Amino acid sequence: MPNLKALVLSGGRGTRLRPLTFTLAKQLIPLANKPVLGYVLDQIAQTGINQIGIIIAPETGHYVKEYIKDGSEWNFNVTYIPQEPLGLAHAVKTAKNFLGADDFIMCLGDNLQGQGLTTFVQKFTKEKMDALILLKHVDDPTKFGVATLDEKANIVKLVEKPKKPSSNLAIVGTYLFSSNIFDAIDTIKPSWRGELEITDAIQKMINMGFNVKAEILNTWWLDTGKKDDILTANAKILDEYTKCDIKGTVQESKIEGRVTIQENTKVVNSTIRGPCAIGVNCIIENSFIGPYTSVGNGTKIVDSAIEYSVILENAQITCVDRLEESLIGKNAKVTKNQRNGCLKLHVGDYSEVEI
Ligand code: TTP
Repeated sequence: MPNLKALVLSGGRGTRLRPLTFTLAKQLIPLANKPVLGYVLDQIAQTGINQIGIIIAPETGHYVKEYIKDGSEWNFNVTYIPQEPLGLAHAVKTAKNFLGADDFIMCLGDNLQGQGLTTFVQKFTKEKMDALILLKHVDDPTKFGVATLDEKANIVKLVEKPKKPSSNLAIVGTYLFSSNIFDAIDTIKPSWRGELEITDAIQKMINMGFNVKAEILNTWWLDTGKKDDILTANAKILDEYTKCDIKGTVQESKIEGRVTIQENTKVVNSTIRGPCAIGVNCIIENSFIGPYTSVGNGTKIVDSAIEYSVILENAQITCVDRLEESLIGKNAKVTKNQRNGCLKLHVGDYSEVEI
């Protein structure tokens, strides 16, 4: 078992995912019916680390606690660390008592990459680094923290969301640090957005002469901060992990490709085309559920066609001819009014409706 701790950032404001984040922590938004945070915790558990600190925010922390509980599902010894969302480096600073003088891996609870964590933990430990950050080639680096490397893969410079990026290497939400990170954080000031930025702290470590290295990720990376990112991430996870597994009952229906249907779900006179995941206690009747769709527990879909969407728990969708690229919250109802052509909406704060 490596002599490291893990710090998982599951706080933040989640403003870009309102209204869902009024009643849910964004790290708990399901991909193929499992919270993205669950995949992150699985990857940490695979490294053998079991001392884990979870950063939580005042508004959504209780949802995260309800999901992780005492951490025994992953064999973790869990410490919850409440934090006002004042930046990633602020979260590290807040966790100082928990982390002490130990090395640690830091993961964002809403980011996932396909390579796992074990090789990075081994490399960091073996080469006695002060920081190891993961980078990924991206098409539009202006949206990310961007790194410039020298010929020996040392990081020369880090810039947060540069207008004129010097490389297309974005910083991925997985980092390894020694306790020297605290000296760097103590010297930085909040950025223009009022947050203590982790990129500024890492840049300070470089300036202070610490051993800061980078690894370039050669697989997928998902950041589930916005609606479209969630749909993309859901599609990727369905593609990677869905197996054909039918536990519910299927009557006069076609099941095509890799489809998971959980216990107590009834599919009648419908077509389900994978990759697709349907939770427990759902009713699907006279409907088409197309590829890259996840349907949460207790949902009822009648006389409708849905594709490339994420439907959370206990939603009801009735008489909707074609619903695509949609994210539908818990207990939401979407119905076509068949009597006249008018729209009748009861839409929550910060919702987005495209007609
Ligand atoms: P972000 O997506 O950068 O920030 P946010 O959660 O505040 O979202 P938004 O911009 O939509 O308002 O955060 C990345 C991850 O880090 C996410 O899992 C939340 C977590 N986080 C903290 O735990 N503490 C913090 O102070 C911040 C800013 C983020």
